[in-house]
Amino acid sequence: MQKLSTQPYKGTRDFYPEDMRFRNFLFDKMRQACRLYGYEEYDGPMLESFDLYAAKSGEEIVNNELYSFEDRGGRKVVIRPEMTPTVARMVAARAQELPKPIRWFSIPNLWRYEAPQRGRLREHWQLNVDIFGVDSLDAEVEVIEIANKILGSYGATKDMYECRVNNRKLLDAALSKIGITNENEQKYRVCKAIDKKDKISQEDFEKMISDAGCDQGQLSQVNDFLRMNLEEIGAFVGEDEIGFRELQTFFELMQANGENNFVKFVPGLMRGFDYYTGLVFEFFDTNPENRRSLFGGGRYDDLVSIFNGQKIAAVGFGMGDVTTRDFLETHGLIPDMKSETDILVTIMDSASKSYSLDIAKKLRDKNMTVVTYVNDEKLDKQLKFANQKLIKYVVIAGQDEVEKKTLKIKNMVERTEEEVKLEDLKNYKF
Ligand code: HAM
Repeated sequence: MQKLSTQPYKGTRDFYPEDMRFRNFLFDKMRQACRLYGYEEYDGPMLESFDLYAAKSGEEIVNNELYSFEDRGGRKVVIRPEMTPTVARMVAARAQELPKPIRWFSIPNLWRYEAPQRGRLREHWQLNVDIFGVDSLDAEVEVIEIANKILGSYGATKDMYECRVNNRKLLDAALSKIGITNENEQKYRVCKAIDKKDKISQEDFEKMISDAGCDQGQLSQVNDFLRMNLEEIGAFVGEDEIGFRELQTFFELMQANGENNFVKFVPGLMRGFDYYTGLVFEFFDTNPENRRSLFGGGRYDDLVSIFNGQKIAAVGFGMGDVTTRDFLETHGLIPDMKSETDILVTIMDSASKSYSLDIAKKLRDKNMTVVTYVNDEKLDKQLKFANQKLIKYVVIAGQDEVEKKTLKIKNMVERTEEEVKLEDLKNYKF
């Protein structure tokens, strides 16, 4: 019979204990930072109705990236590719009773049918931080502060990354000014071209713009617009334009927070999802080796209303574990993952076994994590095991120790050994 492959399904990962240790480290820091700002953890189902994404997630995800199937009852269901529609649904379901602002976070496993490559897999874990019920830009400033807090807790400094910002309203106003309208989805298609611009050639980009029904003059205005700074755009759309004013306020708030140096206006930043309505932002590594965005998010004030008709302001971001790992690796910030076990208690022979097992119990009562070797094999082999598993202490208790009611404590790092009375173990300081 042909042997089965030990490889996981394409674009997915096995998490061996050492990988899990790293994943827990990542998630622990995320949870700590979110809780510092009063965000509460929630979760939702892995499967959702197809309609949730068809409404406002955007054609890229819906047409190309969904894992979808029909269940036995003939319902079209999807393995969640993102968390935002789920959280919007959950908020809508309890919109009346939830005190606002609602501050929630979650770390779901998400699935997208993508071509696996650096920074892109078919499954990833994504921290989602969202705040509902705040109309002002203080919401954007708060979630970006949390993002900074998380990166800071991994040891990252602000020169290692930047936050690119744009505003959907500003983009909309600028395209209207160029004479690009909503007729025949022209504006929508130009936005999709702008979103793709960095991933395709200039030629293909221009083809997408003219396929959307734009003439040469409009094409060159779009190109000009994408090169403008904030001041030039203000002059172009008019300084009273709402998207422009929001961006100005945002930069002022960031400055007042002392956080303006790493935020940068990028007129072509779109964010693929259709539900964004205002400020959008994306965190990027400043090291060009690591091109993928670490975080992405923005304001999506109209999404909750697709469920209950009630408008609730919303702002949030998603931060992926794959890109975060790449970022930490690029900057040498992956910590040494020390062993989760403090002590190995050896088993020397069957006569001393129960004495050793009793020591292990006493150590666990002291809240130390302890493994016993289980088999009575040569001491060398047991010590080698402790070394391989990076266990710092080895406790040895053979016939001699049983008789003397003592034990030996070996420090594997400092290469020292100490004999301790069993009765003193309780107060022994490791
Ligand atoms: P997104 O930009 O699709 O946004 O994903 C957010 C982050 O998740 C990305 O910046 C990236 O780090 C990571 N990510 C996305 N897809 C993959 C993948 N295939 N493999 C590895 N990492 C990936 C959203 O999903 C929005 N729903 C975020 C949001 C929350 N907006 C408001 N609230």
